Amino acid sequence: MTELEKKQSRAPVPSGWDYAPAPEARDIVRIEERYGHFVGGEWLEPRETYTTIAPASEEPLAEVGQATPEEVRSAIQAARDAFQNGWSALPGSERAKYLFRIARILQERSREFAVLESLNGGKPIKESRDVDLPLAAAHFFYYAGWADKLEYAFPNRRPKPIGVAGQIIPWNFPLLMLAWKIAPALAAGNTVVLKPAETTPLTALLFCDVVRQAELPPGVVNIVTGDGRTGVEIVKGDVDKIAFTGSTEVGKAIQRELAGTGKRLTLELGGKAANIVFDDCALDQAVEGIVNGIYFNQGHVCCAGSRLFVQESIYEDVVKKLKRRMKTLRVGDPLDKNTDVGAINSRQQLEKIKELVAAGEQEGAEIYQPPCKLPEKGYWFVPTVFTNVAQSYRIAQEEIFGPVLSVLTFRTPDEAVEKANNTPYGLSAGIWTEKGSRILWMAERLRAGVIWANTFNRFDPASPFGGYKESGFGREGGRHGLEPYLEFE
Ligand code: NAI
Ligand code: MG
Repeated sequence: MTELEKKQSRAPVPSGWDYAPAPEARDIVRIEERYGHFVGGEWLEPRETYTTIAPASEEPLAEVGQATPEEVRSAIQAARDAFQNGWSALPGSERAKYLFRIARILQERSREFAVLESLNGGKPIKESRDVDLPLAAAHFFYYAGWADKLEYAFPNRRPKPIGVAGQIIPWNFPLLMLAWKIAPALAAGNTVVLKPAETTPLTALLFCDVVRQAELPPGVVNIVTGDGRTGVEIVKGDVDKIAFTGSTEVGKAIQRELAGTGKRLTLELGGKAANIVFDDCALDQAVEGIVNGIYFNQGHVCCAGSRLFVQESIYEDVVKKLKRRMKTLRVGDPLDKNTDVGAINSRQQLEKIKELVAAGEQEGAEIYQPPCKLPEKGYWFVPTVFTNVAQSYRIAQEEIFGPVLSVLTFRTPDEAVEKANNTPYGLSAGIWTEKGSRILWMAERLRAGVIWANTFNRFDPASPFGGYKESGFGREGGRHGLEPYLEFE
């Protein structure tokens, strides 16, 4: 064989235009067999444990603690001691140094964190690498900048830290939600006890190593793992504030529990955002925005654009382009760099999605799912769109928290506003139009905490985030995000 022929036999002409597998290496992360609770700067051997898995393969990853009431109490005590023994009295410029360090270490170790996040949570590595990690670091950088400027942030109001914050976070953006909670709390001079969600504890546990590396005084950050039972103990414990992100149901229970106790509370709960497309918009960009709005992070996004409102005159066009675009979404291995849609976070969440999708079909909506081969093991759901949806259907009312879009129509801006606001939630909304005046007119009338115009799912630490109505109260991010962690004389 000549040299040329040999080369050709090694590189056959591709038979299709599929992407070759491009898996990210896992060996950058070392996962321990067993984790305890991080209390007072030490690892506390857990009394009870459970197994955390990779949702894409159901592979067991590690044993982690299910914190008991006593273990939660000792974490809160460690936070209290750290608050009283110096942290709260430290000059803001000193606190800032720690936060800057944490931010830099997160940047340095970002690949490690991104791989672990995708492994334990199921989200595409493309997203954990390009969204979760950079934003988590940015959050620490941002609040580091405020730590020594609180007097300027709130002139003539003498801001003071409030004490120990109990922080309970969900599984959809595990490390990013940790950053949203811990960065402002520490910048304001508080100490924290944080509980990650039971399905995604590993990046929070790896973060303990960052805390150690940054030489944060022991007890300033304490991490306990476990399910809702552990959450209940934090809420009932001797904390001065609870910050919660999760379901509206649990949010309401927490609010009832805290009523009359004087403990402060912020709640960031569910959503059913309207993404509103007018006939004068840039159509192809809007279709990208629709796809990003609902299929980003498998739709496990509280501010997901899960209700699409299309102006009647362009309805056919939008649906046609949307379906065509959906056919190109790559569903599969979260660690593959080409994956667009990863695994559903848990069996429980998959069941919930299936139940609501079945309800949608039963109520009479028309379902479309692109042809798609799903892996055999793990939890998966094909990106789905429903047309012929009435406002009363469950799929138009309830948060699905999965890759499922409901399409509705409208004729006039007034009708769009009325339909968009017809929901118990009010977290976010999107508007697609060429007219700036129409964006402002709509934004004034939409009852949603965040409104995007000609884009969707954009986050910035400098911009406050939070809801109306059953989406919760209090703001995270920006200068607003400091207020819940401060007392004013
Ligand atoms: P969840 O609200 O039960 O869990 C969120 C966090 O709260 C977890 O850390 C959990 O361990 C903790 N928790 C659970 N029960 C608690 C209690 N009684 N007291 C204190 N903490 C408690 O949410 P879940 O069950 O994981 O998901 C159910 C639905 O909630 C999802 O399908 C979705 O619709 C919505 N959700 C909304 C999120 C958001 O970002 N707004 C995040 C996660 C879920
Ligand atoms: Mg729950």
